[in-house]
Amino acid sequence: MSSKVSTEVWKPDLFKGKVVFVTGGAGSICRVQTEALVILGADAAIVGRNPAKTDAAAVEIAKLRPGAKVILCSNTDVRDVKLIAKAVEKTVNELGRIDFVIAGAAGNFLSDFNHLSSNAFKSVVDIDLLGSYNTVKATFEQLRKNKGAVIFVSATLHYYGIPFQVHVGAAKAGVDALSNALAVELGPLGIRCNCIAPGGIDGTEGMLRLLKDKQTFIDKVPLHRMGTTKDIADTTVFLFSPAASYITGTVLVVDGGSWHLGSSH
Ligand code: HXC
Repeated sequence: MSSKVSTEVWKPDLFKGKVVFVTGGAGSICRVQTEALVILGADAAIVGRNPAKTDAAAVEIAKLRPGAKVILCSNTDVRDVKLIAKAVEKTVNELGRIDFVIAGAAGNFLSDFNHLSSNAFKSVVDIDLLGSYNTVKATFEQLRKNKGAVIFVSATLHYYGIPFQVHVGAAKAGVDALSNALAVELGPLGIRCNCIAPGGIDGTEGMLRLLKDKQTFIDKVPLHRMGTTKDIADTTVFLFSPAASYITGTVLVVDGGSWHLGSSH
């Protein structure tokens, strides 16, 4: 039994024969999403900018299941659709197909509006939103052929206003809109598109940057705990599984009920 995903709920070979293509797969949230799918039988392509980080992640994830194939497509900036197309070509050559896509590459830093340059704003919108578009664009033929599914990694901070996150909020609102429109347009082709919107997930890069006082945060979460990466892993497994075959165009918020409290949280 794995502590990374609920194998007491999900059967071990659920994704046998499937291949997942993940941007941002070396980071915290996308990494656990990939780990869960690999544990449950999938092979994976980890797509990222940083060769050392991508390489290490691919090697470690492959160890989670005997026989798992996890390849790396490093030096791939999601802002360049041609680079993603090369990563797709490599994945299909080495793993045979792509069934699932996780568009998770994201930029983030805290900056007040006065010091946020136009180029800094553009960088994050380009990584998060254009990068998500490029990822679906480059994988589209595989998704169509295999009646695949896409998960976009969004957030909840654009449901209200978060100071110093103007760029990220705008980018993630766009990601939700992209997912909704693609769900409607690609549904007739058998392609499902959904978003996962994580709240405060313990140990992630975003929370390390944003969280000032953990206990105060936890006290305000209706379920009275931080989210875990396993919560996101299980949500990912559900959305890609046949149990979610009638679900598309949904933003699944995984935040312990926090966003209903609004910006006062
Ligand atoms: C202000 C900054 C900055 C900072 C970069 N810039 N860092 N401005 N504060 N801390 C500005 C630069 O000065 C430059 O603008 C512009 O951004 C582009 O920077 P580059 O150095 O050219 O790098 P680039 O490759 O474009 O990307 C930079 C980056 C990215 C966007 C900062 O490297 C990044 O975000 N890395 C962190 C990845 C990460 O942590 N991902 C997890 C996301 S978590 P000028 O004007 O000088 O040219 C997440 C969750 C959200 O998304 C929800 C949380 C609850």
